[in-house]
Amino acid sequence: MTRHLKKAELHCHIEGAAPPALALAQARKYNVDVGGLIEDGAYVWTAFSDFLLCYDRIAGLFRSEEDYAALAEAYLVALAEAGTIYSEIIVSPDHGNTIGLGADAYLRGLGAGIEAARARTGIEGRMIITLIRHLGPEQAERTALYAATRPHPLVTGINLAGEERMHRVADFARAYDIARDAALGITIHAGEMAGADSVRDALTIVRPSRISHGVRAIEDPGLVAQLAEAGVVLETCPGSNIALGVFPSFDAHPLRALRDAGCRVTLNSDDPPFFNTSLAQEYEIASAVMGFADAEIDAMTRTAIDAAFVDETTRARLFAALDA
Ligand code: HPA
Ligand code: ZN
Repeated sequence: MTRHLKKAELHCHIEGAAPPALALAQARKYNVDVGGLIEDGAYVWTAFSDFLLCYDRIAGLFRSEEDYAALAEAYLVALAEAGTIYSEIIVSPDHGNTIGLGADAYLRGLGAGIEAARARTGIEGRMIITLIRHLGPEQAERTALYAATRPHPLVTGINLAGEERMHRVADFARAYDIARDAALGITIHAGEMAGADSVRDALTIVRPSRISHGVRAIEDPGLVAQLAEAGVVLETCPGSNIALGVFPSFDAHPLRALRDAGCRVTLNSDDPPFFNTSLAQEYEIASAVMGFADAEIDAMTRTAIDAAFVDETTRARLFAALDA
């Protein structure tokens, strides 16, 4: 059992964390038909592209600052109840604009939810602004410029998510230069739906301190060695990988091989109810299915705190909470 272990996560898309019951309540609130999207209390999708469409439609059920505050607060309070001390949520100002709320109000709502959860439970949270790959490089640059204005004090990093098979990493180099110049923390989705080459491109072109997934680096032993040497932190999400068919089973998942090769690894939930998981379940699978000892799992949590996009005072406080 991993219930007693303190937990931290670096990679969860906030709209992807909405429990189906909450999404249904939102659908009722806005009188939206979600037939075919939610069945028997679970989200319905088949392949990755289909998942992204389902994700966008569910995200579209959250429309006001209050909706976002409630979503973030509910997610983080549940995490805290499972022993989590830190969470970085991936947020999308583009989505805030798409639904007509506006990016500032979207971040304000989510930020209020993070503050409310901290007041109730002590859990620390930050927001990572994501660029959306399938919206293209020009939109990504606009969003990076917005992120560079530091639109909310809890925004501390930048990511790139969405359809990994569209565009090249190089197409987003300028967006990342903008984010780096603004001293935002740098991470990027790679090596999930696309192979080792996408991880190599991410590593050499974007020079991130972390990679979202990165697990398909395992296809290239030289690249694995390079990741280990560079100390890049992999935000692995095993349950997500299995749900999307990236690997056939947890036994076939490369988490242990990557760790054994010297890569710095962490456990994350990605879009938990979409992938039938939770952060607590990822910890449980690492223990019960993958066979990691408690001390090995604690080391992953320590890596997450070490790689968190927070100021050093907060990092020290988080390490103290981990050791308490
Ligand atoms: N992968 C890529 N893009 C995403 C995801 C994901 O799991 N969730 C939301 N956008
Ligand atoms: Zn993700």
